Amino acid sequence: MIKAFIFDLDGVITDTAEYHYLAWKALAEEIGITFDREFNEKLKGVGRMDSLERILELGKTQHDFTLGEKEQLATKKNDHYKQLITNITHEDILPGIEELLKEIKKNGYLLGLASASKNAPEVLRSLGLYEQFDCIADAAAVEKSKPAPDIFLLAASMLKVEPSQCIGIEDAESGIEAIHSAGMFAVGVGDEESLKSADYYVSNTTELSLENILNARKS
Ligand code: BG6
Ligand code: MG
Repeated sequence: MIKAFIFDLDGVITDTAEYHYLAWKALAEEIGITFDREFNEKLKGVGRMDSLERILELGKTQHDFTLGEKEQLATKKNDHYKQLITNITHEDILPGIEELLKEIKKNGYLLGLASASKNAPEVLRSLGLYEQFDCIADAAAVEKSKPAPDIFLLAASMLKVEPSQCIGIEDAESGIEAIHSAGMFAVGVGDEESLKSADYYVSNTTELSLENILNARKS
């Protein structure tokens, strides 16, 4: 029996995935590395330092920086990202998401957040959604970032439910892998190619409804 829905944030609840992309792209270009949206799919869901490592590997420059320098680069990206999200409001919730969250709560399910982002609480507050969540798993509290299951397992344990009683919702390949490794049913929304292994896939948030998700889970 399903008891909880555990959401990713960036790219599912709001389009901050685009701001992460713009901020990483600008930083990469400063150090002479260019990448496109296809490569960016591999960064989605991945933690801050791991994302930087992937970019440096792409440019074959992973050994050119000390740990301190890498931390400075990550901080620079984060400062830029925070600047880009300054004006986020309730209007920036992706279409259909607020209705879906309301349906979930109205029908007595628990609602959790499993985002890799340390900026997640701030983004949820700006969207006016912070109070709706029964738990927000802290990205800083888990050892391994997605595709490891840790953040989804943390959310399930905070909600005091078994992983098999949870449905996870993600826009990233690494996120679907994390949900599956946690032993949960995986809903994918967004890029079809990246979300091939999802148990239920939709291309757009407007197609997500409680009924469709639960029907897919049963079939
Ligand atoms: C994930 C995003 O939710 O959070 C990634 O999909 C991002 O793009 C990661 O790198 C970490 O976010 P932050 O805000 O802690 O740098
Ligand atoms: Mg995401």
